[in-house]
Amino acid sequence: MSLHIGSLAPDFTADTTHGTLQFHDWAATNWVIFFSHPRDFTPVCTTELAAAARLHDRLQERNAKAIAISVDSVVDHKRWIEDIEATQGIAPNFPIIGDPDRKVSLLYDLVPPDAPDTFTVRSVFFIDPNRKVRAMITYPASTGRNFEELLRVLDSLQLTDVHKVATPANWTHGEEVVIVPSLTDPEEIARRFPKGHRVIRPWLRMTPQPG
Ligand code: BEZ
Repeated sequence: MSLHIGSLAPDFTADTTHGTLQFHDWAATNWVIFFSHPRDFTPVCTTELAAAARLHDRLQERNAKAIAISVDSVVDHKRWIEDIEATQGIAPNFPIIGDPDRKVSLLYDLVPPDAPDTFTVRSVFFIDPNRKVRAMITYPASTGRNFEELLRVLDSLQLTDVHKVATPANWTHGEEVVIVPSLTDPEEIARRFPKGHRVIRPWLRMTPQPG
């Protein structure tokens, strides 16, 4: 199944390190960062799961929670968690889905069709409280993700849902943003952006981050 931005995130029931859960019920009214990793007991994945655990409070501030998946079993995940805590100083504080039969991985297109093994790719799905996929990123197994980037994307999605802005290259929370080109009425611009704005070109207008 091929997922796109705007797709309904498929629901599923799965065993996890936090017990059996039904995905949509578990997500409730939160944003969800759903990310896959290739295998348990692998070095890059170990650092990634620890990095995700360190984001816990910052995700909570954003009404978001994390959930991970690989094609290993929950029994293996639980053994691996001990190693993650011992080597990284923090244990995953979010559920890790056990998917040895690849049911969920196939639902989310996480196993490349030509892969010589059952490794899932490093994908991330940003899912909003309406269960819509809002962004996706995919890396190969050899490239560990930047978890600050995941927060940055979440911040952009949440900001641009509320204000008629877009976030420019390398933007981080608190920096200047772009006024969407479709907004042209000067009175509306003044009302929406009381901190003012800069016109660099008629189609390139910057304003301090609203809100
Ligand atoms: C890792 O997580 O370290 C890894 C997993 C699969 C292939 C290469 C590296």
